[in-house]
Amino acid sequence: ENTPVPFEAIGEGLLHRLVDAFYHRVGQHPDLAPIFPDDLTETARKQKQFMTQYLGGPPLYTQEHGHPMMRARHLPFEITPKRAKAWLACMSEAMDEVGLEGPLRQEFYARLVLTAQHMINTPEEGE
Ligand code: HEM
Repeated sequence: ENTPVPFEAIGEGLLHRLVDAFYHRVGQHPDLAPIFPDDLTETARKQKQFMTQYLGGPPLYTQEHGHPMMRARHLPFEITPKRAKAWLACMSEAMDEVGLEGPLRQEFYARLVLTAQHMINTPEEGE
């Protein structure tokens, strides 16, 4: 048997619950909410598409939006080290909430840490 890609191991249902739990937290976070739209429905929809392909599933994001170029797409927003930390904290809490555990979670989260660091485009205020 071939090892399933992480997307298959996690499953679409759990991934979608994770993204919804994540944006629920983002929308309430004092450091993140100000740079996100009030209505996060469309953001969550795109993130589900992106994470599907990020985890080795079908390229849903690219099919609709073209090359991800995630760092470039984040340049209009001030992504500080503090905001990257907040983003990751919301994700970790969302993983707790939906019960994503074990090596699958560890590997997914470790990758997100690297991607989040890569998105930083603004030094901390006052530095
Ligand atoms: C979009 C912030 C990290 C994936 C966005 C948007 C903001 C944002 C403000 C625009 C939302 C909208 O207008 O709909 C941040 C911050 C991060 C971060 C503060 C902290 C490091 C990440 C990471 C990933 C990611 C690590 C992927 C693993 C996306 C995707 C979109 C998005 C897929 C939608 C892009 C589109 O409009 O097509 N992010 N982000 N972000 N972000 Fe992030």
